[in-house]
Amino acid sequence: MKFQAKFFNYIQNAAFYEAAHIGAVKTIKEKSENKTWADIGCGAGIVAKIAALNGYDTIGYDINPEMVNIASKNNFLYNLKFKECNYNLLGIDQADIVSAASLLITTTNQKELLEKLYSLVKPNGKLLIIETTKNMKLSFAIKQFFKIGGKRAFILLLWAFVRGGKTVDESIFDRYVYKKYSILNSMIYARVIYKQWMY
Ligand SMILES: C[S@@+](CC[C@H](N)C(=O)[O-])C[C@H]1O[C@@H](n2cnc3c(N)ncnc32)[C@H](O)[C@@H]1O
Repeated sequence: MKFQAKFFNYIQNAAFYEAAHIGAVKTIKEKSENKTWADIGCGAGIVAKIAALNGYDTIGYDINPEMVNIASKNNFLYNLKFKECNYNLLGIDQADIVSAASLLITTTNQKELLEKLYSLVKPNGKLLIIETTKNMKLSFAIKQFFKIGGKRAFILLLWAFVRGGKTVDESIFDRYVYKKYSILNSMIYARVIYKQWMY
């Protein structure tokens, strides 16, 4: 558990990884004033930190206490906190913006988890889902590697190798109203799901 937390901390300091998540957070195009943000499965805290830097009153939840430890040590922003928590134990209407990065891919029941995440969004809020695409595979990543450059660019190759183009099941998004944004040369999609447009 401790190794996993240290590893994620290392990864999230790769320049392309941070830039990609900054790009994903930017897809939430609205004023952060008096708005809350909850990042679920926050890991070492990358998305939560970016949301807090953008002015949101932010909390990151993770089931792994070591992740919460590292995320808390990394970040001293007044509007940012981290808490050890299993997302299954969270009640509805947690925040105006709820995000989950590289979380759906970790479960076999993606449809059910998406429903859970959606339930955590307050009415009129948004759910931000960040997941890799079928392009996150080694053959594609090698081509991008020389273009992206920056600190710890090799992490992209590692990520692509581990993912091998495996993605979340696209059909789980069908019943929601959302916009899809392409990030990192289409190796990542940020999906913004709108709660107010749900029928
Ligand atoms: C692949 S990591 C992604 C971390 C981070 N979101 C990122 O993009 O760098 C998935 C994270 O989800 C957390 N997680 C898995 N199951 C969880 C659960 N039931 N409740 C809360 N967090 C969970 C793991 O501990 C891990 O930190």
